[in-house]
Amino acid sequence: MQIIKRILTNNFAPDSLNVTAAKSRPFAMAKPYYGEKWWDDKSVAVVTGANKGIGFEVARELGKCGITVIVAARQQQLGEEARDKIQASPGCSGKIIFHQLDITDASSIIRFASWVKHEFPQGLDIVVNNAGMAFKGNTFGAAEALTTLDTNFFGTMNFTEAIKPSLRDVFSRVVIVSSRAGKSSIIPGQALRKEILFASSKEEIGRLGERFIEDIQNGKHAQEGWPNSMYGISKLLLTVYSRIEAKELEPRQVMVNACCPGWCKTDMSSWGGPKTALEGADTPLWLALRTPSQFVTGKFFGERMEVDV
Ligand SMILES: NC(=O)c1ccc[n+]([C@@H]2O[C@H](COP(=O)([O-])OP(=O)(O)OC[C@H]3O[C@@H](n4cnc5c(N)ncnc54)[C@H](OP(=O)(O)O)[C@@H]3O)[C@@H](O)[C@H]2O)c1
Repeated sequence: MQIIKRILTNNFAPDSLNVTAAKSRPFAMAKPYYGEKWWDDKSVAVVTGANKGIGFEVARELGKCGITVIVAARQQQLGEEARDKIQASPGCSGKIIFHQLDITDASSIIRFASWVKHEFPQGLDIVVNNAGMAFKGNTFGAAEALTTLDTNFFGTMNFTEAIKPSLRDVFSRVVIVSSRAGKSSIIPGQALRKEILFASSKEEIGRLGERFIEDIQNGKHAQEGWPNSMYGISKLLLTVYSRIEAKELEPRQVMVNACCPGWCKTDMSSWGGPKTALEGADTPLWLALRTPSQFVTGKFFGERMEVDV
């Protein structure tokens, strides 16, 4: 199997503070935001993987706020059905639009980003990077790791890079739906754990992703200090990426935060877990709707509280 160089260059783009601590809150879903309302009917949000699960609920709640929501889904029929369902939901006052997006497909990403640039020249207020996948059971191998990282890590990173020029300067927000399954404590090798946590560029974090896959392929991933969790590694690298991206976008005052929705009953979890998808949508929504005075960036949250990576 050939490992393709997965990090896209800047040419990939179609046209080539103050930190406030999060407050703790009870588990149950309530009002999805604090503080004053900053958005209006011209505000625009993109939610990836919005045809079902947590992404669907995030998109639906944003629609109820009156925000224009782009339901991004890789399968047209499922995306259109989700769009219609959200638009018809009680209380939905925002305009709901579908656009195809497969975050593992470069041409799909470019089409999406070009369309956004053309349709929304005023820019995007919110991007929720929710799309993700996980193999079921104990599946493990280099090809499977490539698939997992291609979606959860490289795909999300590439999509964010491509959509970045369309983010509104000053207080737009990027929310990265990661997972506590990707906490750094899953890495048995101390040296490797440090290397990942201290990665300071996209190239560096991208190379670590490629190394994980290569090490599995060469039968030495355990020896090199990696765990057996492909999903965990994809999400850990994603969380570290969000921190790197946050630094890069801070001069534009764009908030970039990662979060874990918690264990939710969705297709991905085979309907296990204590939370509903709507409850899982709570922290992503809370990050998406923060007021400018609650500016926070480069952090990792769960249940509206900052958590260690
Ligand atoms: N459920 C949990 O317990 C849990 C816990 C921690 C973190 N998370 C994270 O939460 C996010 C949402 O998960 P979920 O539980 O709602 O899962 P889900 O119901 O399986 O939904 C996943 C969504 O991602 C989409 N997707 C997958 N691959 C894609 C691709 N290449 N391009 C575009 N979209 C793609 C899926 O589209 P299709 O319908 O076309 O497959 C679907 O819309 C994921 O990032 C997941 O890792 C979930």
